[in-house]
Amino acid sequence: MGNDAADLDGYDSVASIEAAELLELHYDIGGGLYKMWASPGSVLAAAVLGWARCDHPAQLHYGWDLAGAASLDDAIRDTTRRAFDLLDIGEISAPLVFEPGCGIGGAATDIALLRPDSEVIGLSAVRAQVETARRCAAAMGIRNATFCHGNYLGTPFDDGSFDGIYAIESLCYTPANERPALVAELYRLLRPGSRIVVMDGCTCRAPENEEERRYVSDVLAGWTFPAPCTPGEFLELADQAGFEMVEQRDVTSSIYDSARRIAAIARYLLLPLTHLASLPGVGRLLSSLGFGSSAHARRFVAACLSQLSVFDLGRGACLLPARLPQTTSCVSWKMPRRKNTA
Ligand SMILES: C[S@@+](CC[C@H](N)C(=O)[O-])C[C@H]1O[C@@H](n2cnc3c(N)ncnc32)[C@H](O)[C@@H]1O
Repeated sequence: MGNDAADLDGYDSVASIEAAELLELHYDIGGGLYKMWASPGSVLAAAVLGWARCDHPAQLHYGWDLAGAASLDDAIRDTTRRAFDLLDIGEISAPLVFEPGCGIGGAATDIALLRPDSEVIGLSAVRAQVETARRCAAAMGIRNATFCHGNYLGTPFDDGSFDGIYAIESLCYTPANERPALVAELYRLLRPGSRIVVMDGCTCRAPENEEERRYVSDVLAGWTFPAPCTPGEFLELADQAGFEMVEQRDVTSSIYDSARRIAAIARYLLLPLTHLASLPGVGRLLSSLGFGSSAHARRFVAACLSQLSVFDLGRGACLLPARLPQTTSCVSWKMPRRKNTA
């Protein structure tokens, strides 16, 4: 299950051509693989009808408390709803909400439906995702979600544009040297008194042996992002930018069951399809499902499996927090009423 860590060499800047190409490769060529991250009926519908003509959640993130949810689709949607609820904008009429790193728009369209008086703007660095998101929103008749192509390090929006910003599994793409600029940009975009909610992978320590290094390298290579920061590093940046912390939680146990389900989908569905796709003539048939590059599909499968192993190391260590190698963290920060202009 090893892979070529050299693939990540160019990813020292989310603004670099190398990063853009890696993201395109991951989401453009292999984006169909995410169709498999859903309940069986939705997987089948998306595979046969395509993203825009089915009820697939189209959210590229983990589900919440799968054991207590009616389905994987519901659990995935629940994660989005929880992030949105934490924005605490129930009292604001016609709020303007931003999602940096919106994928194919599943979360933004769900929120647009949940709050018909809101305007949700999603931004992705991958052009094909923006087009898919627009097609899906149009097919659902949603007019209050719009999508644009761009880099969340430098967005075209005015200072203080948004009543809330949520980011689910998307800010982890920013390498360490650009995280201060990212947090400063998010600070610039928020209205005073409003909140940002981030649900993302964080690391708590470096891998300690070959096996752990392989898991981490599988995850980074398969999902194409640089080494994540620790929760503390992220919070320090937020603090320096002027945010007030509202809450930080380790939510790994809430998303763990969906990571397990996704690993099972990878093992029993994606892996056999990866083998099939390498047979002459079959690859083309499966390319709309993300099997256009068998090397990429194998890396994706390795990431799904190794991510679970990374979580398992942490879960086994719940009683021994010093061994926790990676968590999924949920933070919400608040912009003070008076903006820090220093
Ligand atoms: C795992 S997906 C999550 C998508 C979405 N938040 C969801 O939950 O469905 C990560 C997203 O971050 C986007 N992304 C990564 N780096 C970015 C950047 N520098 N600017 C804008 N979007 C970026 C990717 O294009 C992708 O859409």
